[in-house]
Amino acid sequence: MTADVHDQLSRPLQDLRISIMDRCNFRCTYCMPKEIFGDDYVFLPEESLLSFEEITRAAEQFAALGVKKIRLTGGEPLLRKDVPELIASLRTIEGIEDIALTTNAVMLPKQAKPLYEAGLERVNVSLDALHTDVFQEMSGRKTSPNAVLRGIDAAIEAGLGVKVNMVVRKGVNDEEVIPMARYCKEKGLTLRFIEFMDVGQTNGWDFSQVVSKKELHERVSQIAPLEALERNYFGEVASRYRYRDSDVEVGFISSVTETFCGSCTRARLSADGKLFTCLFSESGSDLRAVMRDGATDGQIHDWIRAVWGKREDRYSELRTEESARNRKKIEMSYIGG
Ligand code: GTP
Ligand code: 5AD
Ligand code: SF4
Ligand code: SF4
Repeated sequence: MTADVHDQLSRPLQDLRISIMDRCNFRCTYCMPKEIFGDDYVFLPEESLLSFEEITRAAEQFAALGVKKIRLTGGEPLLRKDVPELIASLRTIEGIEDIALTTNAVMLPKQAKPLYEAGLERVNVSLDALHTDVFQEMSGRKTSPNAVLRGIDAAIEAGLGVKVNMVVRKGVNDEEVIPMARYCKEKGLTLRFIEFMDVGQTNGWDFSQVVSKKELHERVSQIAPLEALERNYFGEVASRYRYRDSDVEVGFISSVTETFCGSCTRARLSADGKLFTCLFSESGSDLRAVMRDGATDGQIHDWIRAVWGKREDRYSELRTEESARNRKKIEMSYIGG
């Protein structure tokens, strides 16, 4: 039985993004700049991560409150051992219609098949450039972009749905917009361009580095005119388009210039079990403590309901240069985007 819950702005709880690992093998400048996330950076100790049993137990109560879609994120989620076991366990939850994973794809050549066999349906792959130098500048590592392309191919081969996410940072990788669009169009992959966001405290964001959806749309239209498509579901983050000369889709995630807080149905669980009701929250509510203190399923259910019921977040709608600079925000790698 579900008992749906709505927040203070009447938004239902429909999606759960679960970060299962705060570490990553990349150091993307906009997410985990290597000057901050260096050798001495202290990541979460293993015992503080939610176990797969705890994640599943929490997810059951989220599903009972209306969650239909679960996305696993990180850091890099595939750095956690045995992710297929977690997928298989989440699959058994009544009411969950969609399970997806956001990854940098480097581990997919080894893991795509077991993930698919465990019940994963689709992956969103982060790839910000095809040109080696630009890719390495964005990802902060000497890895070749071919490692990501091989991961994408492995995912397709295994039967997973694949979308590509490209964060665009002005003056760094915006020359790659057209080559990336052509590459994805030829492969029949949906590419989503993401406006660079002011997440976390460390990525040096300012508005001058954002390439707007409007500008991206104009650039991509040079390849072929674009036709707007309906959203797939209430609360979808990307606005969707189709190239008029093919069936391939392209999307824009415009959380800076065209905000979408009004339809935001997403809760986020960090790897150590804090519940956040906005990507830009200053603090989370400690679900792990509730579970480890011996709460019953019913108490977990009521606790989540109470947190969501109080929710008023709409950060992107209220964003100013001042709040972007001064608000104490959690890091993207910790909360999973
Ligand atoms: P689909 O289910 O495939 O549409 O995935 P998604 O776009 O919801 O998830 P993904 O992990 O691929 O995220 C793509 C981008 O959207 C990332 O940059 C996220 O940080 C951003 N994003 C996702 N949800 C939100 C949100 O609620 N608010 C904001 N501001 N950005 C979000
Ligand atoms: N702005 C926009 N998107 C970001 N991501 C990580 N950091 C940022 C940022 N500062 C994206 C990643 C990944 C997704 C989960 O979030 O590229 O695709
Ligand atoms: Fe890692 Fe993804 Fe963050 Fe890049 S954006 S550092 S791949 S978690
Ligand atoms: Fe949702 Fe917060 Fe993003 Fe707005 S800024 S869409 S409330 S996560």
